[in-house]
Amino acid sequence: MPPFPNFPDLRQKVALVMGIGQTRVQNSSIWGNGAAIARALGSNGVLIYGCDKNLSAAEFTASRVQEEGGICDVMTADVTSSSDVQRVVDAVMEKYGRIDILVNNMGMTAPGDPATMKEEVWDAQINLNLKSVYLACHAVLPIMEKQRSGAIISNASIAGVSYLGKPQVAYSTAKAAIIHFTSVTAVMYAPKGVRLNCVVPGMIFTPLVENLGKSEREEDREVFRKITQHNVPLGRLGEAEDVANAVLFLASEASKYITGQSLIVDGGLTNQTGTGRWFVEYMRLDVEMENRGDSSQRVTWHV
Ligand SMILES: NC(=O)c1ccc[n+]([C@@H]2O[C@H](COP(=O)([O-])OP(=O)(O)OC[C@H]3O[C@@H](n4cnc5c(N)ncnc54)[C@H](O)[C@@H]3O)[C@@H](O)[C@H]2O)c1
Repeated sequence: MPPFPNFPDLRQKVALVMGIGQTRVQNSSIWGNGAAIARALGSNGVLIYGCDKNLSAAEFTASRVQEEGGICDVMTADVTSSSDVQRVVDAVMEKYGRIDILVNNMGMTAPGDPATMKEEVWDAQINLNLKSVYLACHAVLPIMEKQRSGAIISNASIAGVSYLGKPQVAYSTAKAAIIHFTSVTAVMYAPKGVRLNCVVPGMIFTPLVENLGKSEREEDREVFRKITQHNVPLGRLGEAEDVANAVLFLASEASKYITGQSLIVDGGLTNQTGTGRWFVEYMRLDVEMENRGDSSQRVTWHV
């Protein structure tokens, strides 16, 4: 098990993780974000209840968490359905009588710009990525308000902060909206003892990325190469564990004075422009010219 940080106040807390499974679980030792979050919570003694549309994916996560000594129950649910979400919340309440932590991890992208994206794709994307966060909060906030305590962490994306070079307009819009939903709801619920924050992952090496690399299709392997030949300042893609560490912190008392914030977990990616590599090359040539004493060719580039 990775050495997850230990937050003693999390022991025996009850967490509901929406979207606890992961896609492409077969033959993968890699952890998706929801699964890694459950693993990190489990390693901290949190009592986990999770749901996913794909029951076998949820059960796979539960078995991996249980193998490591964690406590994790799962059930099937479609997070875009208010009755399903209510059913899950009722099940957690029946079992534990409280919900201390809600993790809104569900989310998937679909390609397209506003001109090419079909209306039904837009609607499905907004339902899955944004309405689901509202539905889960709608069901859980009154419980946390009654408890006068609770931490909600929603998984956004750097696609909600910057354009990543890949048209996915509905996903980016929904993720940006989650960040704002979190900021304003956090202010409304601060006096009631409930904190809301976001994790904002960058490029994470998940089973989906791994599978592209193993694919027999050259097009898939090309996508894999493009993803992995990244320009991340910290020099690597993220791992789901990096996202899980941020969730642990935001769920714990260590972040008790933090609400309405978005914690970007991207190795520095969103803080650099796409010119990063070109500047490195420019600086190299500049130094080379200086060493040759060839100052006539030097151009100082004021950008
Ligand atoms: N992987 C990345 O690089 C990355 C980057 C930024 C943000 N994120 C975010 O992290 C979260 C998880 O992503 P992941 O890459 O681990 O994805 P994943 O595809 O491995 O997991 C998503 C899970 O959501 C479930 N799901 C999909 N539709 C559902 C529905 N209607 N009801 C219930 N469950 C449903 C899927 O079955 C799957 O188990 C998402 O919110 C995603 O936007 C991922």
